[in-house]
Amino acid sequence: MEAMKITGGNPLKGKIRAQGAKNATTKLLVASLLSDKPCRFYNVPNIVEIEVTVAMCQEIGMQVAWDKEAKVMEVVTKELNTSYIPQRFSGANRIPILMIGALLGRTDQDIIVPVAGGDLIGKRPIDFHLDSLRKLGATIEFREMKRQGAYFAQAHNGLKGTVIHLPYPSVGATENTILAAVTARGVTEIKNAAMEPEIVDLILFLQKLGANITLDVDRTIRIHGTRRFYEVEHSIIPDRIESASWAMAAIATKGEIFIEDAKHQDMITFLNKLREIGGGYSVKKDGIKFYYDGPLQGGLHLETDVHPGFMTDWQQPFVVLLTQATGSSVVHETVYENRFGYTDILKEMGADITLFKQCLGGKDCRFASQSFPHSLIVKGATPLACKDIHVPDLRAGFAYVMAALIAEGTSTITGLPFLDRGYEALDQKLIDLGAMIDRVEIDQRPEEYVYPQMTKPMQSVALGV
Ligand code: EPU
Repeated sequence: MEAMKITGGNPLKGKIRAQGAKNATTKLLVASLLSDKPCRFYNVPNIVEIEVTVAMCQEIGMQVAWDKEAKVMEVVTKELNTSYIPQRFSGANRIPILMIGALLGRTDQDIIVPVAGGDLIGKRPIDFHLDSLRKLGATIEFREMKRQGAYFAQAHNGLKGTVIHLPYPSVGATENTILAAVTARGVTEIKNAAMEPEIVDLILFLQKLGANITLDVDRTIRIHGTRRFYEVEHSIIPDRIESASWAMAAIATKGEIFIEDAKHQDMITFLNKLREIGGGYSVKKDGIKFYYDGPLQGGLHLETDVHPGFMTDWQQPFVVLLTQATGSSVVHETVYENRFGYTDILKEMGADITLFKQCLGGKDCRFASQSFPHSLIVKGATPLACKDIHVPDLRAGFAYVMAALIAEGTSTITGLPFLDRGYEALDQKLIDLGAMIDRVEIDQRPEEYVYPQMTKPMQSVALGV
């Protein structure tokens, strides 16, 4: 098992380049399965999440050529070998369920996908996905199969466009419905759709692929079905979660990081909250500089929300930042019911955090009548002490890295596969920015979770783009 040993105290200083967005790239790869045309992607992040998704797509017939150095990936799926996503991908990430939307229009065979995984941050049901796909004409059943069971989906009579009203603007359900609607007959209207920048990126890609899609300001997405597709070249948007993570690490360590390509437009809410607590930033023509601009002031009220609200994935590192701000701040998590589990460790490190089941801050969310601890008050500033930490999920993992960077002493962080899933070259970037870190093998124990590997070789793809 590997560990990262981090000795706190050094300000992070230097320049990094924003990676391509994890949560856009995976969906674009799946979307490319809609057609048999080649697609070329630029700015592809070299992270485990992409390796897992590529392995899944190769399984069903995608040819892939990936120049990791140049961050360019070329893919084509001339025909499907199978529409069975093996059980080993169960639990790997949230992508298998999206295969249903992408493949329904491409095969008459059963599409078999394992149960969805991803981070352990709540129940993460898929009822909105299933309801929407069924409304479009799919038949989907859950059947026992091997260890965990799988979803069996097909649309023998084809899919037909309709009006779908999502109960909540779920990112995944919006994506799945869009993917299925692209090859459905007629027009599909998704109301109360998510409109995250990663979804807009998917829409841009699909438009190039041949789809006719509109996105209205009232959260309505309208898709005219088509089967006529084109070759695509697409540059993936910068990862706004990764950029914000490094921004917060810069400020928490009293340092300064210039993030080349960080995209202002996708970080508006984050920048507002950062400025409210006194964090420094300066938007340049080719990126954003983040810097410590004197002591941080708490007294903040922060509520996570769907876009254009404050992202739930910015929440964990922001709470670490708030432990370094003077005064009490309130954080209300309204996207996931169970995304504060990571605060126990921060408390053991010295943070003053209290959890509440009520909705703090004045507005009731959909968890108001349930008994989840989804609000917190954090009082600062408190010094943090080093600790041995096992990472439970991706974003909590980065929050712990940040905590270790400001803590006194050396922390040992394990569970690194979770971090490798979403942060490109994390340890190298930390070293380049001046952190005192070492990635070492600490014992012979296997990793608790091993992500499915790419088993098929990369192939050259004859692209006309
Ligand atoms: N929900 C349902 N039923 C559904 C779908 C969602 O109740 O059928 C609920 C979820 O339980 C959750 C809320 O709706 O409480 C939002 O879930 P959503 O579907 O929007 O999230 P997701 O598509 O599963 C993506 C990102 C997450 C990010 C969320 C919110 C990917 C692969 N994951 O998840 O990213 O937090 O949107 O923006 O795109 C991460 O990158 O670390 C990560 C967790």
